[in-house]
Parts: sequence; C-alpha cells; structure tokens
Amino acid sequence: MKKIIAISGTPGTGKTAVSRILARKMNANLISIHDIVKKRQVVYTTDRKRNTKVVSISDLQKAVNRKIKPGLNIIEGHFSHDLRSDVTIVLRCNPIELAKRLKRKGWKKAKIKENIEAELIGIISAEARRNKNVMEIDTTGKRPGKTAEEIIAKMKMPSKKPIDWLKPRILLKLGKALK
Ligand SMILES: Nc1ncnc2c1ncn2[C@@H]1O[C@H](COP(=O)(O)OP(=O)(O)OP(=O)(O)O)[C@@H](O)[C@H]1O
Ligand SMILES: [Mg+2]
Repeated sequence: MKKIIAISGTPGTGKTAVSRILARKMNANLISIHDIVKKRQVVYTTDRKRNTKVVSISDLQKAVNRKIKPGLNIIEGHFSHDLRSDVTIVLRCNPIELAKRLKRKGWKKAKIKENIEAELIGIISAEARRNKNVMEIDTTGKRPGKTAEEIIAKMKMPSKKPIDWLKPRILLKLGKALK
C-alpha cells in the first residue's frame, strides 16, 4: 500500500527541516521537490524578473511518481499541495517570526515582503483547500522536532481549524518587522 503526505507552506515555514525529521520518525520515503529541480529531473524555465524557477505541475507530478515507493511517502516543497497526496500538511508561521527566519536565510527585502504577505493572507492554505484534505500546523516558537511530533499527533486526531494571522496586534508589529 502507498500513502502520500504532502508538506507545503510559504518559504521558511520549515518544510525541509520538519520533513527530514518526520521522515526519520515515520520511516517514510522523503521526496524533495527542490532536489528534483536541482538535479534537473524535471524541465524548468527561469523567471529572471522574480528570480524563481517555473515548472509545470504535470511534469513535476511525473517526476515525483518515479520516486514514490511502497509504504509511506513524504513529498516536501513549495508546490506539493498541487500534487497527488492523501493528506496535505500546510506549515504556517507567524509573519513576524517568518520575517526573521527569511532574514537569517539572507533573503532580499523585496522577496521577504512578498513571502510575508503571502503567509499573512494564507495563500498556500487557500490553494491547498481547493481540493485537498488539509491540516495546518503552526510552527511559530517551536523547534522543527516539536513540529514533527505535532504533525504525527494531529494525523491521529485530525483538526481542520484554519490559522488566521490577520489580527490587529500582529499587523501592528509587522510594520516594524518589515523595516
Ligand atoms: N518550528 C519550526 N519548524 C521548522 N523550522 C523551524 C522552526 N523553527 C525554526 N525553524 C527554522 O526555520 C528555517 C526553515 O527553513 P527550511 O529551509 O526548513 O524552510 P522551507 O519551508 O523548506 O523553505 P524553502 O521553501 O525556502 O525551501 C530553518 O532554519 C529551521 O531550523
Ligand atoms: Mg525547503
């Protein structure tokens, strides 16, 4: 039997860090979308203006299919919520903390702002909810290991509760965090 868990989320929410631990804990086959693109196992074009690589979802699905093994599979990466899976986990992070994480990664201001806004309004969650069994996990103030444990617990006791950052106290602090 094959089971597929997709781990998605805005950049910096911890998809890679959490999935590595989760795969070890669950003894799952880990498939990284970033690796597939890096190893050129899927064709991509480059959007130079936005400095991002663009892949077609159907090509990506084919490349992922080649890596699926019997048993449990975890697909982690930015567009994993658009791929075939049994459950989709969307990692969330308070935008104020996310700004700090992306700064630490050395990201440029404009790119940080774009991603913070995406997280603030929950674009990935909204996209994933179009056609998926979705669970959101708040990673704020937690370590990746704790987040992985929470995912395992939530899969046993699913909760569909959405996370909402659009609160006055967060918006007030966010202005400063983006300076
Ligand atoms: N609770 C948490 N869960 C996951 N990562 C966390 C957490 N707290 C802090 N971090 C840190 O935040 C960073 C998240 O980076 P990571 O590369 O895993 O994100 P990502 O979602 O895979 O990003 P990208 O889309 O750029 O690949 C790591 O340095 C990680 O250690
Ligand atoms: Mg990653």
